[in-house]
Amino acid sequence: MSFRFLGTGAYVPETIVTNDALSKLVDTDDEWITQRVGVKRRHISKNQTAADMATEAAKRALENAGVLPAELDLILVATVSSETAAPSAACLVQRNIGAACMAFDISAACAGFLFALETANAYFMTRKIKKALVIGAERLSRLVNWSDRSTCVIFGDGAGAAVLGEGNAYLDSTFTVTGDDTVLRIPNYAGKSPYWEGKSEDPFIEMQGQATFKFAVQSMVRDIKLLLERNHLSTEDIACIVPHQANSRIIELAARKLGIPYERFVLNITEYGNTSAASVPIALDEAARKGILQKGDKFIMAGFGGGLASAANLMIWE
Ligand code: UT7
Repeated sequence: MSFRFLGTGAYVPETIVTNDALSKLVDTDDEWITQRVGVKRRHISKNQTAADMATEAAKRALENAGVLPAELDLILVATVSSETAAPSAACLVQRNIGAACMAFDISAACAGFLFALETANAYFMTRKIKKALVIGAERLSRLVNWSDRSTCVIFGDGAGAAVLGEGNAYLDSTFTVTGDDTVLRIPNYAGKSPYWEGKSEDPFIEMQGQATFKFAVQSMVRDIKLLLERNHLSTEDIACIVPHQANSRIIELAARKLGIPYERFVLNITEYGNTSAASVPIALDEAARKGILQKGDKFIMAGFGGGLASAANLMIWE
């Protein structure tokens, strides 16, 4: 016994920031961002927290699934940008939608949604739960250094959610963690302890772009290959890949190395930028609603980022 998706939902804030708007903030231009990253616009929150966006995505997923909040046994939110450490974003979602179940956050950066699905799956396998709500939600605009052109043009805000019920759709998964704080790092607020003698840093995203790029391509190719080989599948057996939307060039390169047509990757980076843990579930919702995923289709979700952590899973759309 694993799980299957009963419904999906996504939410992005209304405010759209274009590349041209960003070029008034830092020394950049639409051409560089479009060619090097593949982003045209990103949605930026003016007054909604990560938990608020998670709540909106959750409501849409519950409606899509035809599931009531009272039926939920577990809520997980994958996030690195929740405004509060306590209560967790998951606890706030639980209150906001009127559920009464266990709820906690998962921190695995851009691979977070996949780590959360694996966690939920463990509960399904032990038959402890019958329905779960798994969300990826980020207000990365809170963690971006808006004067650093190499990072501020990449990220965006948003949330994606999925309602899970008992089923056998989660076929396989792979997870790799290589602890490293030199390539990608988001420090937390250091506090004001009179005893603290360590560093006090701004809690902003620090990224070695090229090293992250290499890690991203290598991880995605390795993880997808492994799932295909282990399950005796060819690339033709996979209807689509739902990848983390970090950079369209990462996806292009991975597609080429894997021998999978680029068109088979679900892509929406142009519209939303990189929304970290929210990016895979937002793309999943898009694939579901646009009918890209059809009953019986085998598909792979792939995520990679801070940790360094990467993950992929093989599922069937039921
Ligand atoms: O979600 C977690 C995982 N994240 C990722 O996977 C991100 C992976 N990395 C990337 O997507 C890319 O490395 C970036 C988009 C971050 C950067 O692209 P790049 O092609 O690796 O550029 P670069 O860092 O090598 O910089 C090339 C040039 C530099 O100028 P010089 O030194 O050649 O004169 C940068 O200063 O581009 C310059 N540059 C910019 N120019 C215009 C950097 N940012 C900008 C900018 N606008 N926004």
